[in-house]
Amino acid sequence: MPKRFVPPNDDVCEVLQQRLFDLIDLASHAKQIHWTVQGREFLALHEFFDEVHADLSDCADHVAERIAALGGHVRGTAKAVAKGSHLPDYPLDIAAAQKHINAFSSSIFQLKMLVRGNVKTVTELKDYSSADLLNQLSRKIDEISWMVGAQMEPKTN
Ligand SMILES: [Fe+2]
Repeated sequence: MPKRFVPPNDDVCEVLQQRLFDLIDLASHAKQIHWTVQGREFLALHEFFDEVHADLSDCADHVAERIAALGGHVRGTAKAVAKGSHLPDYPLDIAAAQKHINAFSSSIFQLKMLVRGNVKTVTELKDYSSADLLNQLSRKIDEISWMVGAQMEPKTN
């Protein structure tokens, strides 16, 4: 009988689970901004961060369903996320648009770096479909990161 390659699903599932924690957490940060942002840019940021929340929730859904498809057991409750997230606690006492943008930017930057590392890990584990999912996630995070960063007040011009 030919030797079958069995993907190391447990390792891949755990990588995906760690990013699922972060994605659900970051989506909640976007909603926190949607609810609390104040200032002249209120309406634009209120709507923008609702879209970011929807995009990140969609990403989380794809990651969670990939874990399930690999035979893993998803951990996705708020309490599991609070224990598992790698992102900094979102400040609950800020309202100014630029403070929110700075806080969100630093969290999404951390997630961006983690996902890029995970693409390499999962590729080395030879689960190319999960690596593809993480590459798509990486592109989406880059896009959100760019859109958030573009709303920072420019330092020079
Ligand atoms: Fe709303």
